[in-house]
Amino acid sequence: MKDIIEISEVSVYYDKFCALNNINLKVSEKEFLAILGPNGGGKSTLLKLILGFKDAKVGKIKVLNDKPKDARKSIGYVPQSSKFDKEFPINVEDVVLMGKLNNKVSPFLKFTNKDREEAYEVMKKLGIYRLKDRQIGQLSGGQLQRVLIARALVLQPKILLLDEPTASLDAQAKLDIYNLLRELNQNITIVLVTHDIEIISNYATNIVCINKELYYYGKAKKGIEINMNFFQNPTNFIDHINTEQYSNTLYGGI
Ligand SMILES: Nc1ncnc2c1ncn2[C@@H]1O[C@H](COP(=O)(O)OP(=O)(O)OP(=O)(O)O)[C@@H](O)[C@H]1O
Ligand SMILES: [Mg+2]
Repeated sequence: MKDIIEISEVSVYYDKFCALNNINLKVSEKEFLAILGPNGGGKSTLLKLILGFKDAKVGKIKVLNDKPKDARKSIGYVPQSSKFDKEFPINVEDVVLMGKLNNKVSPFLKFTNKDREEAYEVMKKLGIYRLKDRQIGQLSGGQLQRVLIARALVLQPKILLLDEPTASLDAQAKLDIYNLLRELNQNITIVLVTHDIEIISNYATNIVCINKELYYYGKAKKGIEINMNFFQNPTNFIDHINTEQYSNTLYGGI
């Protein structure tokens, strides 16, 4: 499989603060990569780097053989929804259609009939078509996540980046989202930030653990075990991942 994201020796800074240090990572076509790590570990920063919203101060990054900014039209992005303004007075259909703007800010929201047809098709696929006239503030957490995923899919991206799309969802809604992503993964490369380590080992093909530095990258296996000290002791390479210990140590349980 071709590498479609290539990050070599990349460091990312916010002013003088180093958020990612010397990261090397390759993501290949059709991979389902789960990014794990503690709060503040740089997971969202890594997605922003791939999208070209944040530049590498040091190192090289290529996405679809291009600069991240130029590849952005082929990347769907589902931001961390805690940062999404649910009170904004807009309905589901318009949120999904905004995906057509591809992050370009436009004062004129003018969409063609073809745009609408394509948006309806994605909404039907994700089971949210019947909600199209609802205000987003009136959706459940799981429904809102589907709307945000639909918005990311309307431009038919090659890569889908998702930042904690299952945070605050119940167990069934999480599984529904993961099953949907598994289906989408037949055609799209998926890069997902998550804290659901027990579930994700059944869905992801690969796992990466970051906490400013990249501590582990490998194939996802059922029941994989992480050494509970690995963020404290990077030299202690992980070959045993105890999922329960991992969650308890880093996240205080889920
Ligand atoms: N705009 C910013 N300006 C300054 N520092 C920032 C900015 N965004 C993030 N940081 C810092 O960079 C580090 C990494 O942040 P990031 O949001 O990437 O972490 P994260 O792994 O996504 O965390 P979380 O699990 O809480 O979402 C943190 O220490 C954070 O405070
Ligand atoms: Mg984050």
